[in-house]
Amino acid sequence: MKKNNLDIFMQEYIPQINDCLDEMLSSLNAETKLKDAMQYSVDAGGKRLRPLMTLAIIKANNHKITKEFIRAAACLELIHTYSLIHDDLPEMDNDDLRRGKPTNHKVFGQAMAVLAGDALLTFAFQKLSELNLSNNIKVKLITALSTAAGPEGMVNGQVGDIQGEKEKYNLDQLVKVHQGKTGALIRYACYAGAVLGEATEKQQTSLVEFGEMFGLAFQIYDDILDVIGSEEKLGKKVHKDAVEMKNTYPGILGLDGAIQHLQRLISSMKEQLAILVDEHFNIELLSEFLNYFDLEKEIK
Ligand code: IPE
Ligand code: IPE
Ligand code: MG
Ligand code: MG
Ligand code: MG
Repeated sequence: MKKNNLDIFMQEYIPQINDCLDEMLSSLNAETKLKDAMQYSVDAGGKRLRPLMTLAIIKANNHKITKEFIRAAACLELIHTYSLIHDDLPEMDNDDLRRGKPTNHKVFGQAMAVLAGDALLTFAFQKLSELNLSNNIKVKLITALSTAAGPEGMVNGQVGDIQGEKEKYNLDQLVKVHQGKTGALIRYACYAGAVLGEATEKQQTSLVEFGEMFGLAFQIYDDILDVIGSEEKLGKKVHKDAVEMKNTYPGILGLDGAIQHLQRLISSMKEQLAILVDEHFNIELLSEFLNYFDLEKEIK
């Protein structure tokens, strides 16, 4: 089968993102146990979707993907990985499988898993501030990433998710949770690509809008996969959302309703891509990220 542009792009950049993460972690002057716990979850695999989105947007604007850009993108993966370690803790979603391996707390214990998460979060900002980029760009990224990851973004969404275990949400409330817990970091991935790729103001607005929709779609798809996906393909347990009494799209709308919602969102993203074309942005790579939402592939 002929490889598409995104496959080729991923083949080139996933190893570079991984090498960059390894370099960052191996340079750490910290307790071996802590380094091991951090490294374990970062190295456990993962699609690297968020840093790839940032890099794809930079590339689309005809910019060379430098080592510093890869480092900037890798910082987001550090934060995403921290969010997964904490998400899996017994007091959160209580999961024992992640990225095809036992969860961090199963291997290192709960205290070390909390600390490895704390460390990855803080380390991401340390590394971001050390980048060899202009202070103006660094402040933009640090401001946006801290907002996306923190109490106005991902953490807030996670609070909504946990509180929702005791309360049934309506769709508007669930959208807010999903936009926070998952949407915020993906939206940031697109923003960072726009900033580093020197997108025009209009392009940036459209890219962030695209990222926002992609982030919501990503969590809807994740909710759907929890119902119809397989542990083997996903590398995590399925049918967990019902056990944990989570508010999800299939829970509120039924499976077909959730799929229809996802399809509508994909159509809106395509409209957003058409706007980007009008703004002279090369959408070739970015549009292929929509192939991620492929239920056939997951249930085969
Ligand atoms: C999982 O994210 C958590 C959600 C936000 C749904 P990913 O599906 O990107 O997980 P990895 O990084 O590939 O393991
Ligand atoms: C994940 O949502 C959100 C974050 C990790 C911030 P989920 O709890 O649905 O993710 P999975 O299904 O455990 O990967
Ligand atoms: Mg969760
Ligand atoms: Mg979870
Ligand atoms: Mg999930």
